[in-house]
Amino acid sequence: MTYDPSGRGATRSAAENQIKAGQLSTSGAPDDRLLDISGLTVDFRTRRGISRAVNDVALSVRRGEILGLVGESGSGKSITALSVLGLVPAPGRIVAGQIVFDRRNLLQLPEAEIAKLRGRRIGYISQSPRAALNPSFRIREQMDVTLRACAPELDAAGRADKARSLLEQLGFADPERVAAAFPHQLSGGMCQRICIAMALAGSPDLLIADEPTTALDVAVQAQILALLHELNRKLGLAILIVSHDLALIRAIAHRIVVLYGGEVQETGDVGTVLAAPRHPYTGALLQSVPDPDHPSARLAFIPGFPEPVPPDADGCRFAPRCGFAFAPCLSQRPILRLVEDGVRARCHLLDPGMATP
Ligand SMILES: Nc1ncnc2c1ncn2[C@@H]1O[C@H](COP(=O)(O)OP(=O)(O)O)[C@@H](O)[C@H]1O
Ligand code: SF4
Ligand SMILES: [Mg+2]
Repeated sequence: MTYDPSGRGATRSAAENQIKAGQLSTSGAPDDRLLDISGLTVDFRTRRGISRAVNDVALSVRRGEILGLVGESGSGKSITALSVLGLVPAPGRIVAGQIVFDRRNLLQLPEAEIAKLRGRRIGYISQSPRAALNPSFRIREQMDVTLRACAPELDAAGRADKARSLLEQLGFADPERVAAAFPHQLSGGMCQRICIAMALAGSPDLLIADEPTTALDVAVQAQILALLHELNRKLGLAILIVSHDLALIRAIAHRIVVLYGGEVQETGDVGTVLAAPRHPYTGALLQSVPDPDHPSARLAFIPGFPEPVPPDADGCRFAPRCGFAFAPCLSQRPILRLVEDGVRARCHLLDPGMATP
């Protein structure tokens, strides 16, 4: 792997420029921020001790933008997303941080208030649409339950109308037939579109999509991504999309946050970051993505596996797997440093005061 901390070794591709051409303003003004997470730290207390799944994570989703949260399995993406929804599974516990949604710190709200925000202001879709739907009930009944919670002002006829229009919005030509079906009578892609319809039932400002296409085949993946892109463009819906797939994030997101070991390693405009990654982990992830222009090229892989991290771990979390590690990487935690143009990266190689080998 070659690594160019100057960031001048690569230029933005035509595809990345196209993505940028259609994007909404991401000016970065503080009041642009719909979701603003800072210092988020989540521990799991297990029989083997305390493991830190998320460490001091800061990220924000601006109104009308798509933020991509990317990293290998186990890097803390889902726990970060579930923290926003107040749904961190036991024995996990948020031990520090702030999660400000529309100027309110969710971590200080009573559960009843957070439950109201879930569904109405913050929609959620998971990677398993079939698991999210109840196999024993028709789609119509499941949408009705969701609409009762998200739109209590509607009567039964209003809810039926709204369900129909949501299904139409999600591209179903025959919403009555779909509404009358049980989940097992529909394809995985149709089930995911129904889950998106239900997530939109309360007209949320933010949609959190955790690996929304992982369980789907490639053609259906593209459909779902196109749909999310259209919802963002037409409704101005802000989307936090979580994926292990860098190519997917590159195709849809405006900005990117790269997580490793529960920490933000690099963040910035998706085109800028991926045209010239500053962090060795982002570079390694990028080299493991197939290049459509060179399909037969050998893909690189990152040796080793992410390891659980104790709360008091020193040094860089990527050091055991990093081909550029040098002495300070084992003992000092790098800071998330502003590199240029809104790009931040956490690596000692970017510290001008650090003696490199
Ligand atoms: N139920 C659990 N019990 C113990 N540890 C967990 C549990 N869920 C998650 N973790 C810890 O949190 C880390 C991050 O998990 P997660 O956010 O689900 O990763 P990702 O979504 O990036 O694959 C895991 O590597 C694991 O150490
Ligand atoms: S701080 Fe060191 S170990 Fe971590 S990514 Fe940079 S060079 Fe690699
Ligand atoms: Mg996950």
